[in-house]
Amino acid sequence: MDKLAITGNGPLRGAVRISGAKNAALPILCAPLLTREPVTIVNVPQLNDTRTIVRLLNQMGVTAARTETHRVEIDASTLTTPVAGYDLVKTMRASVLVLGPLLARWGEAKVSLPGGCAIGQRPVDQHLKGFEAMGATIAIEAGYIHAKAPSGGRLRGAHVVFDVVTVGGTENVLMAATLAEGTTVIENAAREPEIVDLALCLNAMGARIRGHGTATITVEGVPELHGGTHRVMPDRIEAGTFACAVAATGGEITLLDAPVHAMEAIFDKLREAGATITTQGNQTTVSRKGRLTAVNTKTAPYPAFPTDMQAQMMALNVVAEGTAVMTETVFENRMMHVSELLRLGADISLSGNTAVVKGVRRLTGAHVMATDLRASACLVIAGLCARGETVIDRIYHLDRGYEHIEDKLIGLGAQIRRLS
Ligand code: EPZ
Repeated sequence: MDKLAITGNGPLRGAVRISGAKNAALPILCAPLLTREPVTIVNVPQLNDTRTIVRLLNQMGVTAARTETHRVEIDASTLTTPVAGYDLVKTMRASVLVLGPLLARWGEAKVSLPGGCAIGQRPVDQHLKGFEAMGATIAIEAGYIHAKAPSGGRLRGAHVVFDVVTVGGTENVLMAATLAEGTTVIENAAREPEIVDLALCLNAMGARIRGHGTATITVEGVPELHGGTHRVMPDRIEAGTFACAVAATGGEITLLDAPVHAMEAIFDKLREAGATITTQGNQTTVSRKGRLTAVNTKTAPYPAFPTDMQAQMMALNVVAEGTAVMTETVFENRMMHVSELLRLGADISLSGNTAVVKGVRRLTGAHVMATDLRASACLVIAGLCARGETVIDRIYHLDRGYEHIEDKLIGLGAQIRRLS
C-alpha cells in the first residue's frame, strides 16, 4: 500500500494546471449510456475513480476506452447487460449514476446498492423516489436495486421534489428525464457547477434541459439522444485544495484553468484567512505573505462553502492565529481527519459535527493515516506545514480524486515522495 512522505519545506511557489473535475467527469462518463451513437469526452482526469467507471461500462458490454491521456471514447450501442455488479460498485458509490441512463434507455437496470462509505451511510432513497415518480418499479433484492421502466419501456415525465439537496440524485433523475415521455420538473435540485456541466453535455447530445444550476430544473423528454463531444470543466475542489495549501504554507502560486466562477465561497474564506487572490485570463494567483487568521466555516450545498473543502480548510486553521469553529452539515461522519491532525500536534476539540480549532505555532511531523479522499488532502496540507517528516498511509484514497498530486506539489517546491 503506497504512502506519501512529506517534509515541511516552507512557502509554496510556482504554477499548477488544474485537471478536469472528478465530480463532473463521473456523471458525464455515464451519459453516453443514453444513446447508441459514439460520444467523446475530453479533459477527463486520470484517476482511480474515472478508471472504475470505464471498467464498469466495459463490464456491461459498452465499448469505452481512454484513447488519449485525457480523452475517453464511448459507444454504448454494444451494451449487452444493464447490470452494475457489487465488485466495482463497492469501490465507488458514484457507480449508482449508471442507473438513471440504463433505466431510461434500456428500460431496465440492475445496480448493486452502493452501500455507505467512511464519511456516511450515503443512502440513495431520493434517486429511487425520482425514478418511481417517473413510473419505474423498483425492487431491492439480494443487495441489488432492480429497476424497470413501465411496460412499453419509456419513463414518464414527472414532478419530483427532493426531500434533501442531493447532487447524485439530481444527476441520476436528470439523466433519466432526458428520454422520458413528457416534461419532468425537479424541485429542490442541487445547484453544483458539476450538474451544470452534465446538463451542457446532455444538451449537446440533444436533450432539452433548462434551469440547470438553479433549484428548479425542467427537462422536456425527447425520443432519443445523439452522440457528440464534451470537455469536462476544471476541478474547483482540486483548485481549492492548492489554494488552501499555499494560504497555509505562505508563498505564491498560479492556478492555470481554475474555474473561478465556481469558487466564490472558497475564495471568500481564503481571503478572510489572509490570502490575496487575483485572476487574469486563465491564470489565478493565490498568495499569502502576512498573518494567517483562523476562519469559521459551515458546509452546505452550492453555492455555500463546500463539504469537499472542509477538511482542507481545517488543515489551514490548525496553524492559523486564533480559534475557528468548523461545522459539517452535509455528511454525518466527515470529521475523521481530526484524530489524525491531533497526532501532528493540532489543538482541536470535536463534539458531533462541530470542531473547535485553536491555531498552534507549528505542527510536528508524524505517521498518520488517510481515511477518505478529502481527509487525505487535509493531511498533505498539514504535512507541508509541519516541522520534520510526515508519512501518510493508505493514500489510495488520495489517488481516487487527485491527478498526479505529488508531481504537482513538487512543481510548487514541496518536498514529497511516494513510498511504495
Ligand atoms: C457528491 O456525492 C460528490 N460526489 C461528493 O464528493 C460531495 O461531497 C457530495 O456530492 C456533496 O456535494 C460525486 O459527485 C461523485 P449527495 P453524493 O447525494 O451525490 C444525503 C468527493 O470528495 N442523501 O449530494 O453522494 C446524503 O446522505 C465526494 O469528491 C440522502 O439522504 O452526495 C448526504 O448526507 C465525497 N438520500 C447528503 O444527502 C439520497 O438519496 C448529500 O449527498 C441521496 C443523498
